[in-house]
Amino acid sequence: MPKDFSQMEDSNRSSNPSIHEVSMPSRRRLLQGSLATTAVQLLAPLSGLAALQGCASLSGSAPQLGFKSIAATRADGLFVPEGYTATPAFLWGESVGIPGAMPAWKADGSNTAAEQEAQIGMHHDGMHYFPLDGSRRGLLVMNHEYTDDGLLHTDGMQTWNAEKVRKSIAAHGVSVIEIEDRQGQWQVVRPSRYARRITAATPMAIAGPAAGHPMMRTPADPTGTRVLGTLNNCAHGYTPWGTYLTCEENWAFYFNGRARPTAHEARWGLRKDGRGYRWHEHEERFDVNRHENEPNRFGWVVEIDPMDPTSTPVKRTALGRAAHEGAWVTQTRDGRAVVYMGEDAQFEYIYKFVSRDTIQPGGYAANKDLLDHGTLYVARFNGDNTGEWLEVSHGKNGLTADRGFANQGDVLIQSRQASDRLGATKMDRPEWIAIDPKNGEVYCTLTNNTRRGANQQPGTDAANPRANNTMGHIIKWKEAGDFDAVRFNWTHFVMAGDPANPAAEAKGNVKGDSFGSPDGLWFDDRGTLWIQTDAHASNMYKGDYAGVGSNMMLAADPRTGEIRRFLVGPVNCEVTGVVCTPDMKTMFVNIQHPGESPSDRSDPADPTKFSVWPSGQKGVRPRSATVVIRKKDGGVIGS
Ligand code: FEO
Ligand code: CA
Ligand code: CA
Repeated sequence: MPKDFSQMEDSNRSSNPSIHEVSMPSRRRLLQGSLATTAVQLLAPLSGLAALQGCASLSGSAPQLGFKSIAATRADGLFVPEGYTATPAFLWGESVGIPGAMPAWKADGSNTAAEQEAQIGMHHDGMHYFPLDGSRRGLLVMNHEYTDDGLLHTDGMQTWNAEKVRKSIAAHGVSVIEIEDRQGQWQVVRPSRYARRITAATPMAIAGPAAGHPMMRTPADPTGTRVLGTLNNCAHGYTPWGTYLTCEENWAFYFNGRARPTAHEARWGLRKDGRGYRWHEHEERFDVNRHENEPNRFGWVVEIDPMDPTSTPVKRTALGRAAHEGAWVTQTRDGRAVVYMGEDAQFEYIYKFVSRDTIQPGGYAANKDLLDHGTLYVARFNGDNTGEWLEVSHGKNGLTADRGFANQGDVLIQSRQASDRLGATKMDRPEWIAIDPKNGEVYCTLTNNTRRGANQQPGTDAANPRANNTMGHIIKWKEAGDFDAVRFNWTHFVMAGDPANPAAEAKGNVKGDSFGSPDGLWFDDRGTLWIQTDAHASNMYKGDYAGVGSNMMLAADPRTGEIRRFLVGPVNCEVTGVVCTPDMKTMFVNIQHPGESPSDRSDPADPTKFSVWPSGQKGVRPRSATVVIRKKDGGVIGS
């Protein structure tokens, strides 16, 4: 999501104090801490993780960062280091390969809604590769976060009707494509029995403690257990039992809120006209004035079985409700699932869920309700570099009936309000979370927060130490024991920025190549930390952060803190979504919204005003795509 969205990614101010009001270590100490990778010395909760990620065979003696970094640029293209190739594939509008329904993409935007329902969605985001035949053939499952309706329809939004709403709904969600390496070229297998589109209209189940809650019931679903669709699928996760998790981020944008929202609606950012999607004009469930409970059915983590195209996705309410960025899974030594989640909104929170039961052998069939039972926590980062996981459970820590939390459903549907009451730490837009396979440290990107320290806004605190945080930072912590610990120690990994920037708060302390607004974050099996950047408050539409360039992907050595730029994307794109095949010889990276206009709705009469990627031709609509990255010598990516 670009900058303009981030302005919406706020919510009504919550009332708990920021931790800067508790204590505030010196900036100098914070910066020292961010460079000291040994600052946190606790037991590594590793046993399940190493087995899960199978990293031993890839460790070897190759240098952690074995490539020559590339320059920042605002040129309209895709750039990778020498010795690498990067090829666009799996573009918005290509057929996913559903047997009997494989429509071709039409360059003028004239594909119908029904055709879009069988085509790859728009605005690719988080994704995962599920092997079918090791590193040669697998399922690539990817999110489609939102749409640029200026590019989606022939005449953009100049006219508006039910068919356009249906097409916009169909371009959201998730694509499941079977892909195969054919003589060095990754191609979609068409037709494929796995091919599937999940959209903002796909029937889904609601499970966990909030299922059936009165606030989840609607005229179309009096049981509160069934819902149509998933919205604004940003980042993702995957489980050891083989399922994909897709996460509902800025779902509030799609609703036409009331002119005078309730306190609950205001806390969740529901506003009149939303973000201008205008779905409610033809799909009345998106009008809060008529269906006040429909929004409560969004903001969840959705579990999908990618291997069964007839399976029903399930919204797992036990994991809490949020503007969910993603959901990243590891496990305790005794085999319970642990899910880390960030809520990407200014001054919102970081969560952890620990399952009650242990993961069983036998895939999804044996773990179908594992994510329905467990304990949810929210993070508090103390000023002395310790932290606590505060339990988000009915009846504990003041989450009681007299405060509006009569049961766990109440707590979960109002997760933000519950976290406010618990005194959790308001963060600078928590995005992706990644777990170091070598030592179990957990990293989280905090993409930026230009309102930090502004008038009437929370001030700086130890964990979020920069006012007007245009560049963002990466925080990391180590649990005090196993992953289910309720205490942790934290430090900063890096404050993003550019030393040449005239603004003191934008200089950062990067050891290596400058960047801003870290968003995507992923550890490969060799222990390289890949960092992807989003369009942000400065580098997308202004020229005064030239040292940072267009959006990019960098690789970090977590042991030394060195960061090298690996990829730069086309103008006004977001680089997001990264995964490798198990042999690490192919990397998939998503390029979202190349050439996006500042309004995020392009002019259909001039679609290539900012970028001609990937077609290279003026006038041909830019398209989100996956980029296939390989090393020319056939080696391991990054080595
Ligand atoms: Fe959809 Fe938080 O990026
Ligand atoms: Ca983002
Ligand atoms: Ca993101």
